[in-house]
Amino acid sequence: MIITIDGPSGSGKTTIAKGVASRLNFAYLDTGALYRALAYTLLSKGIDIADIAAVEAALPTYCLKTSQDRYLVNEVDTTAYLRTQEVANASSIISAYPAVRAFLLPVQREFAEKQNTVCEGRDMGTTLFPNAEVKIFLTASPEVRAKRRFLELQPTEISFEELQKEIVDRDKRDMSREISPLIQPEKSVVIDTSNLSIDQVIEEILSIAQGPRWEHFPHQADVGIRGIGKTIEEAFEQASLALTAVITDLEKISPKKSIEVSCEAIDREMLLVDYLNRIIYEMDCHQMLFSKFEVTIHNHTLSALLFGEKIDQKRHKGAVEIKAATYNSLRVHCFDSGTWTAECVVDV
Ligand code: DC
Repeated sequence: MIITIDGPSGSGKTTIAKGVASRLNFAYLDTGALYRALAYTLLSKGIDIADIAAVEAALPTYCLKTSQDRYLVNEVDTTAYLRTQEVANASSIISAYPAVRAFLLPVQREFAEKQNTVCEGRDMGTTLFPNAEVKIFLTASPEVRAKRRFLELQPTEISFEELQKEIVDRDKRDMSREISPLIQPEKSVVIDTSNLSIDQVIEEILSIAQGPRWEHFPHQADVGIRGIGKTIEEAFEQASLALTAVITDLEKISPKKSIEVSCEAIDREMLLVDYLNRIIYEMDCHQMLFSKFEVTIHNHTLSALLFGEKIDQKRHKGAVEIKAATYNSLRVHCFDSGTWTAECVVDV
């Protein structure tokens, strides 16, 4: 599977692509670093970056390789030298040269086609991997992006205003070049990261890549539960699965018998807490565990079918008692992409 993440500098691509790759156990390809490695090598050999013929003539003398976050040119590891503004600007200039793009194309394709990869760059979803299963386009306001780069470069002599101007200029160059300009790829999901945390963006991309799912997250002595889905109902259903999974292995519960519940609340968050507490109440009342949920929601009124079976001490042993769903980390949210998340903490 290939996940492409494109976007302008400072939109959070690198951190987010690395995070997504590590959560999915995918390889990670930073294609900007390849352009930087080439730019650094050209600069260090004294080649004039603005001289397109000189750059083109140098290309056949280089062999570029990447593995495990290292970027080698003719077996020389350039990784430590790639994050300066000089290299950033030079890489943007050479990236407009068709010969440079053609030179780097096979390096990128060969890497991603042999393994599950998250590819980060400017033309991943357009030119390199137009048929990728998941295509993301990250954006953020120029001010937010300049702030992020400014913090990343500390200590630095460049002023914030200068950096902001360089970022705007670099965007213009990357977006207006003739070959493979930075544009939103067809069928990609746009995520504006200006007001989102890194974790929220990673969660959103994972939910697009993986579909509905649930997970636990740590919260002091208690457990956080999170349901993610394409609709609010799916997110609530997944949150209920996460709740049951705190108690026992979901696969050990047969959905033999159903119980109908309904609740009403003033907003979505309260509805989630009421609903989860209702499940806890029904578990206690009927001495049952549930492993399948069908939820419908209309204007803050919820009705659901809970499918499960009587607790069997032997099969379901190891069960933890859940006291209640709490208001801690309570959130029911719909991302711009249409993905819903429903989460809170349960008191165990
Ligand atoms: O993502 P970055 O800042 O490390 O990228 C450095 C430059 O390389 C960027 O200004 C544009 C260019 N680039 C590109 O043209 N195509 C890519 N796929 C990746 C980077």
